[in-house]
Amino acid sequence: MNNSVRPRVFVTRDMPQPAIDRLKEFAYVDLWPAFPAPEKHELLYHVSQADALLCMLSDPIDEEVMAAGKKLRVISNYAVGYDNIDVAAATKRNIAVTNTPDVLTETTADMAFTLLMAAARNLIAADRFTRDGFWIAWHPLVLLGHDVSGATLGIVGLGRIGQAVARRARGFGMRILYTSRHRNPAAEAELGVEYCSLEELLQQSDYVSLHTPLMPETYHLIGAKELQLMKPTAILINTSRGNVVDQEALTTALQDGTIGGAGLDVFKEEPISPDDPLLELSNVVVAPHIGSATIETRTKMGMMAAENIKAVLEGRRPPNLVNKDLYNTPSK
Ligand code: DGY
Repeated sequence: MNNSVRPRVFVTRDMPQPAIDRLKEFAYVDLWPAFPAPEKHELLYHVSQADALLCMLSDPIDEEVMAAGKKLRVISNYAVGYDNIDVAAATKRNIAVTNTPDVLTETTADMAFTLLMAAARNLIAADRFTRDGFWIAWHPLVLLGHDVSGATLGIVGLGRIGQAVARRARGFGMRILYTSRHRNPAAEAELGVEYCSLEELLQQSDYVSLHTPLMPETYHLIGAKELQLMKPTAILINTSRGNVVDQEALTTALQDGTIGGAGLDVFKEEPISPDDPLLELSNVVVAPHIGSATIETRTKMGMMAAENIKAVLEGRRPPNLVNKDLYNTPSK
């Protein structure tokens, strides 16, 4: 097909090739070629030409971007979370917003558990210790962590990823507490999880794992007051969004021993500055927002994002529509 009549998709970062190939079957693909991300003026320019935008969780998509996108019909976020997009503004402009749920559930739960295990067992410190030649003799008191099996895990937000974490925790013989906007009796029966208030969960858990979306109600859900409720040995795991936690309060709590440690894949600002005091702490395991980062999952996310775009461009309701009131017909 002639490129001038094809719809144009701006893709803000390179991604697994099958997804790019899929997009090329029905659109002209304007692929941002470089690393890092496009700056705002570059984003505005490319969006001004585009019928569809395939963007990352780190691309802020606000009114200004949408206003530049005179032809823009769909914003397809390459993530399940969509706190980077002003969804209300998109709805006002009749622009569909889509996301990539489900395909990253297990992978992100794996990452939460990886961070939990690594923090519990001092894995990063142990790796450094071994490489740096400190392993002089086996010693009963070196690099002692805490048991995971038999410990209590508190899950904040028992959605898809929270439940997948609970399934892993069952395999470790953990007691599992949860708190969520809605109590979930079916999950309680299936997973043996116990519902309680956030306060009770924080007081009783050895590990607390956060799985809430970032919304006004969950901004700084875990602050100084909540950290004070936790056990001094407790470990906080965050694979959701950085701003669910008050990062300054967390840093203080880790510095003064209010809690024992943290495993963090997300931060209030990403990338986190290399000078951030959090990175000086040895009781923290950090990762650069790689919860969904496997070849398989990132490919599935890309295919899903492409299908969402295709549906909108063909006048169909996309399978993973966020602003559901845009289309009245049920999903096909
Ligand atoms: C998401 O999809 O929201 C995740 O944070 C990606 O890893």
